Amino acid sequence: MEKLLNKILLGDCMELLKQLPDNSIDAVITDPPYCSGGRNAGARVKLPSDKYGLSSNKTVHRPDFAGDTMDQRAWLRWCVLWINECHRVLKDSGYFLMFSDWRQLPTATDAVQMGELIWRGIIAWDKGGGSRAPHKGYFKHQCEYIVWGTKGACKKAIHAGPYPGCFKYPVKQSDKFHLTGKPTPLMEELVQIVPENSVILDPFVGSGTTCAAAKKHNRNFIGFEKTKTYYDIALARIKD
Ligand SMILES: C[S@@+](CC[C@H](N)C(=O)[O-])C[C@H]1O[C@@H](n2cnc3c(N)ncnc32)[C@H](O)[C@@H]1O
Repeated sequence: MEKLLNKILLGDCMELLKQLPDNSIDAVITDPPYCSGGRNAGARVKLPSDKYGLSSNKTVHRPDFAGDTMDQRAWLRWCVLWINECHRVLKDSGYFLMFSDWRQLPTATDAVQMGELIWRGIIAWDKGGGSRAPHKGYFKHQCEYIVWGTKGACKKAIHAGPYPGCFKYPVKQSDKFHLTGKPTPLMEELVQIVPENSVILDPFVGSGTTCAAAKKHNRNFIGFEKTKTYYDIALARIKD
């Protein structure tokens, strides 16, 4: 375990999770592929750059990434498998936080419960009024969500909290290193739900935002990433 601390490993999290001992992690904070986007099944199996590139700056090319073309039931099955492994490696009362969009929210909350965690709520991430709507008459897709739970009881924290149930952080292109990258200040708030020197696991590191935030706030991290391009970006970020 010691040798994995503050490292990002390249590979499939289902394999890499096996290296972690039972009851060793204080919090899982992660942003898995949503397998979402588009208005129908045909659109959802397109490459991530086709699906999510539109919502960001079209002039910036960001590489594609693995694991984003599953149909709904396959995504549910897969989520249950890796969440169940997260349940194994979490300490008792450890936190589990998983990002989701509106479309995958019902499936994500099912997956958390099927993975044996206790589902405790949904936190909204408000991306601001600049968010897209398909056309007039539509509500903007302004929020994404963080499904959260614990392994068993949720203990009273001593170091901080209660934490906000809603965060407002716009996506800034200067702070975006992945097609679906999350704002660093948002991740900085989330990593502080556990005390300093705790161990945070992110099985879907992407460009390494969770790890960079953990490092900045003196939390240990362990990260896994399957796409080599993003693994390289994440490594460079945590070295900085
Ligand atoms: C939504 S992105 C994470 C973005 C990250 N939050 C950021 O701010 O950069 C999900 C990442 O999970 C990776 N991934 C997909 N399947 C994986 C797997 N089985 N094991 C490890 N990583 C995987 C993808 O390559 C992708 O980079």
